[in-house]
Amino acid sequence: MCGIIGFSGVRKVPASLIMEGLKRLEYRGYDSAGIAWQVHSKIRIRKCAGKVDKLWEALPANLELRSGIAHTRWATHGAPTDTNAHPHTDSPQRIAVVHNGVIDNYRALKRMLESNGHRFTTETDTEVLAHLIAEQLNGSIEEAICRALREVEGTYGIAVIHAGEPDKIVAARRGSPLIVGIGEEGSFIASDAVAMVGRAERIVHLEDGDIAVISGKDHEIRRASGGIATISDWSRLDIPPTVADKAGYPHYMLKEIMEQPEALEDCFRGRVQREFGTARLGGLNMMPRDFLEIDRVRLLGCGTSYMASCVGARMISDLARIETTAEYAPEHRHSNPIVRKSALFFAVSQSGETTDTIMALREVMRKGGKVLGIVNRVASTIARETGAGIYVHAGFEYAVASTKTMLNTMMGLFLFGLLVGRMRDLSLARGRELIDAVSELPDKIRQILAMRDEFRSVAEHFSGSENFYFLGRGYSYPVAMEGALKLKEIAYVHAEGYSAAEMKHGPIALIDETFASVFVIPRDSVYERTLTNLQEIRARKGPVLTITTGETDDLESLSDRILVLPQTDEILLPFLTTVAVQLFAYEFAAQRGCPIDQPKNLAKSVTVE
Ligand code: AGP
Repeated sequence: MCGIIGFSGVRKVPASLIMEGLKRLEYRGYDSAGIAWQVHSKIRIRKCAGKVDKLWEALPANLELRSGIAHTRWATHGAPTDTNAHPHTDSPQRIAVVHNGVIDNYRALKRMLESNGHRFTTETDTEVLAHLIAEQLNGSIEEAICRALREVEGTYGIAVIHAGEPDKIVAARRGSPLIVGIGEEGSFIASDAVAMVGRAERIVHLEDGDIAVISGKDHEIRRASGGIATISDWSRLDIPPTVADKAGYPHYMLKEIMEQPEALEDCFRGRVQREFGTARLGGLNMMPRDFLEIDRVRLLGCGTSYMASCVGARMISDLARIETTAEYAPEHRHSNPIVRKSALFFAVSQSGETTDTIMALREVMRKGGKVLGIVNRVASTIARETGAGIYVHAGFEYAVASTKTMLNTMMGLFLFGLLVGRMRDLSLARGRELIDAVSELPDKIRQILAMRDEFRSVAEHFSGSENFYFLGRGYSYPVAMEGALKLKEIAYVHAEGYSAAEMKHGPIALIDETFASVFVIPRDSVYERTLTNLQEIRARKGPVLTITTGETDDLESLSDRILVLPQTDEILLPFLTTVAVQLFAYEFAAQRGCPIDQPKNLAKSVTVE
């Protein structure tokens, strides 16, 4: 989604310092980009629809600057055009603003400003902010911003410069992440710490209502809670400078698929306790007695985090015998949710910044419910607001299409199920058996990754298909949904995930020799039932790719192609079958020459509702 980087230096630096930060935000998804800087108390702006490289080419040669603010825009209000790209200014160009978020009352504000003589040139909500701040300008820019923001309804993370106050950048946040960083060359404002990698050494996350003022190495963060940020608010920026390396792979997505054996191990190593057949999850901050009181678990997430939650809900129900369900976070929020004292909620999110999930967790907390986080990004909004939970330790995920974080999120939920299960009816022997099976998963995933040529050949076989069902039952049903999501996201073909059992209740109407089905049908307790569903598709001449484990005798005549994965305990099968659907989607999209790491219309972190 939109990205912000601002820099104020102790001396002039090449514009590349800011532009490199902006490039590191590209992974979030965007459709236009822009930058503003000051020259002799005047604001200069370059902005354009399209990629950051295009903007870079449009900058004056050898541009050097002391400070500047830059932005990648993911269009919400107004098409992705040069004019609508950020930064936006007031009419005399004294103020420039970059903004993430949505101003809900921008129409009313615009009407009010127009009646005061302001003229607007774009279709965006952000332009209103520039005019509103200019209207309030009567002293310092930070005072004008504070006054202007009192009029604003909606969400924002903004960085603002004023022609009359050289090298000063003011940032404010409500509902949209912003981080202040400080390094050798000066101070930074960014919507994502990755923009400051290799430059900033220490960072502080702004909270809603905070105002930050930076100028060279001077910085002041005025807390909404009162007072100024102190030394204890700062932490080291711990993202490695190599984060944006593709390590020789053509795409981040493939690199991250390949990283899964090690990433998964990072999630369970040190947490499983074979001796006791259980897991230790210190971040939950719960006493043993607290676990006994839980009678319901609700997992709230979006996209792939929701799919991982669907798998996790089955795992927790199976292991702990607690009624557990996964729900789309925004649907839950708007359902007037029932919140009981004995229920435990998890906000599940790779980024920890998904607005839909944040709003859902706030609604539950407002009703007095207990919410924990299952998050990948350390110190993200969800991690901070829940204050406790499970970090999934997948490492930085750069590709828009989530892969390794799905596996690690499922592992976090599995470990929770194991922990609570062992406090209830799960035997020591079964706990140990599962831990042994978990420790074999990384090698089994390596075996699947080594089958890449086979996946490529299968993808080639199906490369002409424009329609896919992904079908599975039991643990394979959410995996099928994830397979369909992956294919849609990166290959732009129509794909739907269904319970294989549900097919005959309607979707089967579409099956003919052009409509392909991917069956996720490992040898598990619902194998025979799924086989019946496969036969129903085959009887209607539907092309079939079968993803299975073990013997294939009864599948040969029913499948066009078969991928055979290693076997594992039924409850752990999603850790293998998910890798298979990811790799199939990747190879399929690669065959079709799709822009896998920058899929159209998508954003890595969705920070609007
Ligand atoms: C997955 O491939 C997508 N990029 C998307 O569905 C994503 O999972 C969703 O937006 C939720 O993001 P989060 O896990 O960061 O909350």
